[in-house]
Amino acid sequence: MAGLPYIVGNWKMNGTRAMLNEARAIDRAAARFPKVQVALAPPSTLLYRMRDTVELIGVGGQDCHAKDNGAYTGEVCAGMLKDAGADFTIVGHSERREYQSETDAEVKAKAEAALSAGLSVILCVGETEAQRDAGDAEGVVTAQVEGSCPSTEGAPERLSIAYEPVWAIGTGRVPSVDDVAAMHKAIRAKLVAIYGDAGSDVRILYGGSVKAENAAELLAVPEVGGALVGGASLTAESFLAIVGAAASLAEVG
Ligand code: 13P
Repeated sequence: MAGLPYIVGNWKMNGTRAMLNEARAIDRAAARFPKVQVALAPPSTLLYRMRDTVELIGVGGQDCHAKDNGAYTGEVCAGMLKDAGADFTIVGHSERREYQSETDAEVKAKAEAALSAGLSVILCVGETEAQRDAGDAEGVVTAQVEGSCPSTEGAPERLSIAYEPVWAIGTGRVPSVDDVAAMHKAIRAKLVAIYGDAGSDVRILYGGSVKAENAAELLAVPEVGGALVGGASLTAESFLAIVGAAASLAEVG
């Protein structure tokens, strides 16, 4: 897998201007970790200010609309994220798949809109606990990859997949390293089936209760190219501990 380890903080619906201090501290510290690619996805209200606040780290959205503009009250399109200074956007997070009933086809359209607007994309997939208990986890996740991956020319170069088991998000529970390895391998095989050789270079991140204590173990799993971090990205202290773990592994590797 190509590229530096990618550690991305998803702030979800957290953060007002006061929290830009955390982003500033993360950005300053990122200079100490040149072998790690670091990014934050704040709420869209903070995007523009965060862009002005940081120099080294990437900044991105948490979602975008599939259309370029129009009468969609409350929505934000990919071109607006780009205009506010975003480098990338997350699409297909399980919280949106669940609470906004987003389908694979909608996620795919959003990913394609984001790529067309010049953004990179982090596309999230993951099974529920019931699906895992039923033995369907790999089938569910590879079907999500198949149904959501963008068909845009050159898509693999600006695409990352985030494998986030729904039952691991915000719960403190994480899959075993063997389960993470098996799922990332299955996702890789599906990406190669979709994109050919270019599918080998798509980064596959792990997300779901990543903390300082488990980051090194999870990031060392084959085919894990980084982490999408929720709760532990909300303070510089806890997020930088994860970035530091990624840096230590990158030094060794
Ligand atoms: P937590 O790290 O809080 O479990 O959230 C993971 C997540 O959903 C990141 O997108």
